[in-house]
Amino acid sequence: MDELEREYGVTNAIKLASNENPWGPSPKAVAAIGNMLQNLHRYPDGSSYYLTEGVARWIGSAPEEIVLGNGSNEVIEFLVKAFVGTGDAVITSHPSFLMYQKFVQVRGGDNVVIPLREMRHDLEAIAAAVTDRTRLIFIDNPNNPTGTLIAKESFARFLASLPQSVIVVVDEAYVDFVESEQRIDILGYIRNPEGIPAVVSLRTFSKAFGLAGLRVGFGVMHREVAALLHRVRQPFNINLPAQAGALAALDDVDHYHKTLHGTAEGRIRLSEAVTRLGCHPYPSHTNFFLIDVRGDATRLYEAMLYKGVIVRSMKAYGYPEFIRITVGTAEENQRFVTALGECLRDLGYGRD
Ligand SMILES: Cc1ncc(COP(=O)(O)O)c(C=O)c1O
Repeated sequence: MDELEREYGVTNAIKLASNENPWGPSPKAVAAIGNMLQNLHRYPDGSSYYLTEGVARWIGSAPEEIVLGNGSNEVIEFLVKAFVGTGDAVITSHPSFLMYQKFVQVRGGDNVVIPLREMRHDLEAIAAAVTDRTRLIFIDNPNNPTGTLIAKESFARFLASLPQSVIVVVDEAYVDFVESEQRIDILGYIRNPEGIPAVVSLRTFSKAFGLAGLRVGFGVMHREVAALLHRVRQPFNINLPAQAGALAALDDVDHYHKTLHGTAEGRIRLSEAVTRLGCHPYPSHTNFFLIDVRGDATRLYEAMLYKGVIVRSMKAYGYPEFIRITVGTAEENQRFVTALGECLRDLGYGRD
């Protein structure tokens, strides 16, 4: 944002591009990190004992079913390191989170990429693409960037249609924002793998907990899968402040709920406002959503930068007329709406 302010000569830039938490970190996390700083000359606990226990309690799993990572990104890397070698295949969707494919490339694996169908994971096409070379299937649910969610029944059918030789990784980075009755019972599938493949869930402290800069995420999985991932991780992968901060954040129920309520409300208000401006917002189960701006999204993105508002153009994802925005605070949302209105008018977009 500093760079944007320098280059574009704007002040008070706002970033609605990376699906971060606009309400900041939990104050309890900040305090816990502060208290930990005097111990920085010590190595952290290599097993992250207390944080693992805390996460397990929060999820309702056993500590042996949890693997912590330097962001959930690192757990993705562990999975690929542990299970993918040269010539093995990994199935992902497009567009979806890009890191899956990058880690597979580094390991010399083959990426089998299935296009989304009507902005949703095409579970039938994914199942049809499985061969005896397939090791992992990555599915982000809700999907980034579309914000769409897989129905529970479709997921059950999908799992039942797969051979047990694969591992299904469900990246639930945004599941905190999903209504509880619409969530898939991932722990149930992890614990009762009878007749279905092994399932892994990925979660993060970067979104609903507001700790993207601290880098903590985790995977929930069968304890035998977890034991394998522990063998490929570095001994101190979760640093000292991260262990303290994430544990304290789990305790800050008020901050967590404030984030969920603020996001749900902001999503409704923003959708109404951009509709009034002649754009088409897509329904989302996350803290971000896509907007069809009915014109070149990259030009709009650049025009918004001059107003000090950073959004994401979806051109690189194959949606040249879409932007993705993160729900901000009420004030940020208002700034975004005002800037969007001005840019749409200047560029002649939006209205039919
Ligand atoms: C679908 C998805 N998975 C994982 C991540 C990465 O999360 P972390 O910060 O925990 O590495 C993101 C971040 O944007 C994401 O969108």
